Amino acid sequence: AQAPVNVTVTGAAGQIGYALLFRIASGQLLGQDTPVRLRLLEVPQAVKAAEGTAMELDDCAFPLLKGIDIFDDPNSGFEGANIGLLVGARPRGPGMERGDLLKANGGIFKPQGAAINAGAADDIRVLVVGNPANTNALIAQAHAPDVPAERFTAMTRLDHNRALSQLAAKLNVSVTDIKKLTIWGNHSATQYPDIFQSEVGGANGAAAVDDEKWLAEEFIPTVAKRGAAIIDARGASSAASAANAAIDHVHDWVNGTPEGDWTSAGVVSDGSYGVPEGLISSFPVTARGGRFEIVQGLDINAFSRSRIDASVAELAAERDTVTELGLV
Ligand code: NAI
Repeated sequence: AQAPVNVTVTGAAGQIGYALLFRIASGQLLGQDTPVRLRLLEVPQAVKAAEGTAMELDDCAFPLLKGIDIFDDPNSGFEGANIGLLVGARPRGPGMERGDLLKANGGIFKPQGAAINAGAADDIRVLVVGNPANTNALIAQAHAPDVPAERFTAMTRLDHNRALSQLAAKLNVSVTDIKKLTIWGNHSATQYPDIFQSEVGGANGAAAVDDEKWLAEEFIPTVAKRGAAIIDARGASSAASAANAAIDHVHDWVNGTPEGDWTSAGVVSDGSYGVPEGLISSFPVTARGGRFEIVQGLDINAFSRSRIDASVAELAAERDTVTELGLV
């Protein structure tokens, strides 16, 4: 039998954690052949709540779940981790400037990066969900110099899935009919959901829509502001859909993306498409053999170019801020 895979989840007592852990334990992250051991990392005051979640996980009697350990110290939490889902983050408080937010998150992601460097397994793969996800991933990566940089990724899969669903509704097709959608840039309101490369039942998605006004004034803002719309409707932020996207991201990273399609993920830039090298930006990616590859050679039209540039400029500004703060 296969040895259990150690999955560390930070923010395990939070609302995404509650939606995520049961799906990992049921085998949806890595597949029905792969046993898992959960390592839950929380702040001390939330350890008791994490223990409650662990009791419920026990009560599910998941055949693939081989153990649950709970920690309030990152070094222990990431010891032997094969997969790290970095969900816990510091939310933006009232009147908090971007610099303050990045600084507060530096206090979380710097020690977590160092702990991953010190004690995680050689094949560690990290997905940062906690916002600002791209720059938090950059901070963690900067403190894990012995881990290949490509193992640090940020989640834009929820944006990708939101875009799929919006486009499917517009064209009255199934989400499974749509291929090659892309989210570019930052997981923020500047992100750019791109349908120009997309294929819908074999035809080009943008040609099928044939409505640039809808694209600019409805589709893009709806996808980019969906998080706020969920908070407005639900009275709480997206949790189950965020957990679902985290499952999709890691599942595809490990098992590969389907032939003839790609997905979106925040990965370290190699300079492709004019995105400065080293930024963790969302790109169209395929996964093969446990590695993400940025899809190369796409034609970027002027409409897309200006939007990609704007989101990437925001990422570069975030990197400048965390550089000035000494966080990377
Ligand atoms: P939540 O507030 O319900 O839970 C966060 C948990 O993280 C809390 O239990 C807290 O105690 C814990 N935490 C804080 N600092 C920690 C640390 N240093 N170590 C370990 N745990 C720590 O928040 P929720 O709804 O679960 O969201 C988590 C994050 O995910 C937020 O930053 C949110 O903005 C982000 N998010 C990202 C999305 C994406 O698409 N990338 C989508 C939705 C949410």
